[in-house]
Amino acid sequence: MLKAFPDLTQRSDAPELMDDYSIGGYELAEALMQLRNINTWLGAAWPTLEGVNRLWRQAGAPSTLTILDVGAGTGDGNRLLLRWATRRRIQLRLILLDLHPETCAAAAAYYQDEPRVQVQQGDLFHIPVQSIDIVTASLVAHHFSAEQLPSVVLAMARAARLGVVINDLHRHFLAWGSIWLLTRLLSRNRMIRHDAPLSVRRGFRPADFEQLRTTPGLEQLRYQWRPMFRYLVVVPGIGNVEQPTKHNLDNENLYA
Ligand SMILES: C[S@@+](CC[C@H](N)C(=O)[O-])C[C@H]1O[C@@H](n2cnc3c(N)ncnc32)[C@H](O)[C@@H]1O
Repeated sequence: MLKAFPDLTQRSDAPELMDDYSIGGYELAEALMQLRNINTWLGAAWPTLEGVNRLWRQAGAPSTLTILDVGAGTGDGNRLLLRWATRRRIQLRLILLDLHPETCAAAAAYYQDEPRVQVQQGDLFHIPVQSIDIVTASLVAHHFSAEQLPSVVLAMARAARLGVVINDLHRHFLAWGSIWLLTRLLSRNRMIRHDAPLSVRRGFRPADFEQLRTTPGLEQLRYQWRPMFRYLVVVPGIGNVEQPTKHNLDNENLYA
């Protein structure tokens, strides 16, 4: 029987299992693989590509580009970006950053034959200022509360020379109902069954972005609804604003 619809008027603050870094092994590997499948079925990578393409064009279509995908998971959606770069003859260097060491290892295995991709373990809060052309974050923003989000987006916007592309979920009853049903029908993985519908409850509505862009430095944030209950958010890089740089990306663990 379909569970009663949750209250979606406010973002949920219930924790996701994926944020419990004591969970790893087969359960995490299976969840990452199933997340890859869900992303593929739902065309989840398209809004990110749209945002990257926009920033690239605005910058005069440079022939070299560095992209950092934060909270990358296995970074599967980036296959689309890699094909886009190949078609446009862009020399792309893509860095996948994730906090979880096992996730980084899975990403390195997934991209073992792709020399343009590097995987690094690290925290998005420690990316050096203006170190990257474009920072992307797919299904990452919803992991943070409204109080944390300004510092998350500021950290990415300071790191980016051109801008930030956020791709995340619309908090909508149809999105919640369909992902709840889909994951009950197709998955026995505890993380997927728990986190996929919860991610929608942690997702966004326009008022959340309006609030976010009242943050000094984020006034230029723009958001657009995209098919399959997604939001594409683009924020120009803000560069030289002071921030403590604790880690240098080049010194983090390099998996590939
Ligand atoms: C739901 S997954 C998204 C994976 C992938 N980007 C996608 O679109 O399918 C969120 C990821 O963010 C990572 N993450 C959470 N907080 C992070 C942080 N502060 N720095 C880097 N990665 C983080 C988690 O380890 C997890 O792999």
